[in-house]
Amino acid sequence: MKILVTGGTGYIGSHTAVELQNSGYEVIVIDNLCNSNADVIDRVADISGKKPEFEKIDLCDREGLQKFFGKNSDIKAVIHFAALKAVGESVQNPLLYYRNNISGMINLLDEMLKCGVDKIVYSSSCTVYGEADALPVTEDSPIKKAESPYGFTKQAGEQMLFDTARVNDFKSCILRYFNPTGAHDSALIGELPIGVPNNLVPYITQTAAGIRETLTVNGNDYDTPDGTNIRDYIHVTDLAKAHVIALERMLNGKNIEKTEVFNLGTGRGNSVMEVINAFEKVTGLKIKYRIGPRRQGDVVSIYSDTGKANQILGWKAERDLDNMMLTAWKWQKHISEL
Ligand code: NAD
Ligand code: UFG
Repeated sequence: MKILVTGGTGYIGSHTAVELQNSGYEVIVIDNLCNSNADVIDRVADISGKKPEFEKIDLCDREGLQKFFGKNSDIKAVIHFAALKAVGESVQNPLLYYRNNISGMINLLDEMLKCGVDKIVYSSSCTVYGEADALPVTEDSPIKKAESPYGFTKQAGEQMLFDTARVNDFKSCILRYFNPTGAHDSALIGELPIGVPNNLVPYITQTAAGIRETLTVNGNDYDTPDGTNIRDYIHVTDLAKAHVIALERMLNGKNIEKTEVFNLGTGRGNSVMEVINAFEKVTGLKIKYRIGPRRQGDVVSIYSDTGKANQILGWKAERDLDNMMLTAWKWQKHISEL
């Protein structure tokens, strides 16, 4: 059964392509390669023993997308990862984010409806909750005003799916990721940030590898036990496996609602200092860090209630923070050697 993975050469998409192929699905990837490299397809093949089909296509290119769907009438469902994802960049260049993430998704949904492809798994984010009033957040926690244009594009994507399902025979599974990190056990695929990383874990691994001199901890005066922000870090392989389960729920007609929403996290919150300490413990390395000012736009704390995903999807994150740090470090060493 052929599954289209948009953004499939990216970080989470490539890990999901592996899990899909390991579960027997035929994978076809489209990506415009604005934040990834086509050789990821070979590495996915090295891991899973099968090479996914790949076409370089921009979701904003309507004609290209039309031709693609015309040629691939056997696509049964879509897993939609393709988007820009840097929160800070989205504040600086909002229209780039609105055009890419929202227009791209409109084009994709248009083609799916035209071609009778009626199932989609969508990459959303815990950013849709903003600064939550109560923790952990459940899927019913209020959706607050978006803190960034990026966050708004994720809220808009969710809304488009609810509205589309209301008037079409169309099913969606919205997955709200918390903080994906770590890499495949093989160290053949992982996160490849371009330029200076924004995210904590790639910054830690690049500091340990000597690429960055000092990690800045963005504030230690928050109202948390050690004063640093709390997040729910989740291993990318656990996350990837949840996509296969979400897809199969729709393929097997097990979904109760046309549009379903699930939090994907571990349910545990860890502070920035706890992440640094875990990295130092599992690698035996020391990270040079300094305490800096707060970063604009950071929520104080967020972590998930995973009860719905545990009970309804039958999915549970299996890997702990130590494993996330170990695999992220193995991947960093691998790319540093390339
Ligand atoms: P990524 O940048 O590694 O992968 C996204 C891929 O989409 C890239 O390969 C990029 O080249 C491609 N792409 C972007 N715009 C495109 C377009 N218009 N047409 C075709 N391809 C395009 O990012 P990721 O971390 O794998 O994120 C995947 C999805 O998960 C995104 O939708 C992101 O918003 C969402 N998400 C990510 C995180 C995170 O922390 N990584 C958290 C929550 C949600
Ligand atoms: N942090 C530092 N120093 C750094 C980088 C990050 O102290 O050099 C801190 C941040 O201030 C924050 C924590 O580490 O307190 C986590 O920050 P990340 O940038 O790794 O992750 P975010 O929680 O800000 O956001 C990430 C992705 C978003 C996604 C969101 C929710 O960047 O795209 O998770 O899923 F939407």
